[in-house]
Amino acid sequence: RDYGTPASRSEKQVTLTIDGFEVTVPEGTSIMRAASLAGIQIPKLCATDSVEAFGSCRLCLVQIDGRNGTPASCTTPVAEGLTVHTQNETLKRLRKGVMELYISDHPLDCLTCAANGDCELQDMAGAVGLRDVRYDAVDTHFRPRHNGHANPQYMAKDTSNPYFDYDPSKCIVCSRCVRACEEVQGTFALTIQGRGFDSRVSAGMSGDTFLSSDCVSCGACVQACPTATLVEKSVVEIGTPERSVITTCAYCGVGCS
Ligand code: FES
Repeated sequence: RDYGTPASRSEKQVTLTIDGFEVTVPEGTSIMRAASLAGIQIPKLCATDSVEAFGSCRLCLVQIDGRNGTPASCTTPVAEGLTVHTQNETLKRLRKGVMELYISDHPLDCLTCAANGDCELQDMAGAVGLRDVRYDAVDTHFRPRHNGHANPQYMAKDTSNPYFDYDPSKCIVCSRCVRACEEVQGTFALTIQGRGFDSRVSAGMSGDTFLSSDCVSCGACVQACPTATLVEKSVVEIGTPERSVITTCAYCGVGCS
């Protein structure tokens, strides 16, 4: 089970109220994790409990009595006496709008996608009740740059790695892969290049492929990816396994599963 953000090691306990339930958790715990521990699931895309919260997707918005705005629950720590609301009409509308923007820029090939049935974007679209997208679809294989010219190289697939493929057209730039590469593996092979609509995950310097970069093929990025952007070649070729066994490799000091 994924609680959204890593556990806090603090011994000090904090009590707050989330959706009417009193919850006591260690100081430093995120509101998202506290809610999850209480059985309340807040929609999320960029947060996972194996890497530090980043707050990029803005799907996990909540409201806190006495505070302005709708902070991200993954990056907001609990505090004594807080009263948090995770479900109301305003939050539902905001999350649906955020998800609509993600889907407007994503290939709609779910039925033939390697991640079909195992895709967090698909799950979250369902969780926020998204049925229609009001915006015109973008041709994600020829995404325009700021100067208005199409750039087919920009969204080209990278199949150079012998174990996994990288398809930037399916990337939501949540940066989970970048953070997993840094925090789980300590390799720093991945980065995000560009800004705004042009931002994309990149292995190494411009012009590098995954194979020519510092990537050591540990698979931490593939495990962290919430869509089919980074996907094992075996999954592309023969589909998702019917059963998987989580184990720890004995040949590496990282200790990832
Ligand atoms: Fe909190 Fe993405 S899950 S901002």
